[in-house]
Amino acid sequence: MDEVWRRFRADDPVHWHPATERGPGFWVISRYADICAVLRDDARFTSEKGNVLATMLAGGDTGAGRMLAVTDPPHHTELRRLLLRAFAPRPLEGVARRVRRATRLLLTEAVERGECDFARDIASVIPLATICDLLDVPEADRRELLTLTKSALASDYADPDAGEDRLARAEILLYFADLVKERRASPGADPISLMATAELPGGRLSDDDIVLNCYSLIMGGDETSRLAMIGAVHAFMAYPDQWAALRNRAVTVESAGEEVLRWTTPTMHFGRAAVADVELDGRTIAAGDLVTTWLVSGNRDESVFAAPDTFDLARSPNKHLALGYGRHFCIGAHLGRVEINAMLDGLRTFVAGMEPAGTERRLYSSFLSGISSLPVRLKAAEPVGWEE
Ligand code: HEM
Repeated sequence: MDEVWRRFRADDPVHWHPATERGPGFWVISRYADICAVLRDDARFTSEKGNVLATMLAGGDTGAGRMLAVTDPPHHTELRRLLLRAFAPRPLEGVARRVRRATRLLLTEAVERGECDFARDIASVIPLATICDLLDVPEADRRELLTLTKSALASDYADPDAGEDRLARAEILLYFADLVKERRASPGADPISLMATAELPGGRLSDDDIVLNCYSLIMGGDETSRLAMIGAVHAFMAYPDQWAALRNRAVTVESAGEEVLRWTTPTMHFGRAAVADVELDGRTIAAGDLVTTWLVSGNRDESVFAAPDTFDLARSPNKHLALGYGRHFCIGAHLGRVEINAMLDGLRTFVAGMEPAGTERRLYSSFLSGISSLPVRLKAAEPVGWEE
């Protein structure tokens, strides 16, 4: 795909993808600067027609105007300000400590066994456990929730069963509806309680609004961080010099984490709809047109990143777009970084070496990019310098 995106960036950076039997036509934006121009322009682009191609093509998002990611100001501003109280680094300190503890446990168990599916046994466990921790979901319900989120979003097979997707989604919504009722009765400090007790300028949030936002937090935070971690291990096996740089502490975990995000770009695109005519690179995007911005292409834009196809953990500057740009910049960015960086720190501390132990499986999706199964053999290291 890299070659395809290179050609789009060079020859047709604002490309019109014609209508098909699956839906109307849409614009394909591939250059870094153009992606930023669209994502920062809230006056002429809306998120309320959906922000992912599949929902935009299907005619819109049922959460529009209520779920943070598909809501425009002023409600977006109010809701985001409220949720940020739970997503800032300080309130996340406890969650971050538990992420590190869980990462250590999973990795030390895996190196003891010697072989594992890094995707299934390690990377799929941390993000959902972390969001459940953040939302204060009872321990006993977490396994069931993981199964449901897997069938609701992941397309790790060529021909996903749409009926099963819908059922799983409905069950997640029902589950959170019960939790919201409990939190209204006895609130804590978690995001569900914040939403349940908030008095916003636009009024109180309904149960449905809160449920939709819980759903979006689970969907936003589960697969994305997971795919970044899996992609990191995959890249370390392909680029042993970079694995050595991490292990020898020639690069910081923070710098490595940013390059892992750029390299993997788990969400390939996000979308908007134009609400006014917009000129971009000599093309006219008409009011009402659907627009897709391809973060995966922007993150390889040669006019912004030196040697963009090189996995370079020391890359600086590294202003990648993996977490978005502008008003809707990922609200879980700190949490995602905490998870990825804990994993990188865990790998360099507890793992001396890694090699493939079977065939990897990639996801089938126009939205998410990455690997859903990655069998690996891990060699134990003599751990030094781990803090929890
Ligand atoms: C927004 C990516 C982790 C929840 C976004 C956006 C991107 C993104 C690109 C912008 C969407 C847009 O412009 O329409 C990622 C990646 C992650 C990650 C790559 C991990 C590596 C998380 C986590 C959570 C989360 C851990 C929650 C627990 C959200 C939400 C939004 C969002 C709610 C909407 C924000 C808004 O509209 O103001 N994410 N995300 N994400 N993300 Fe993340």
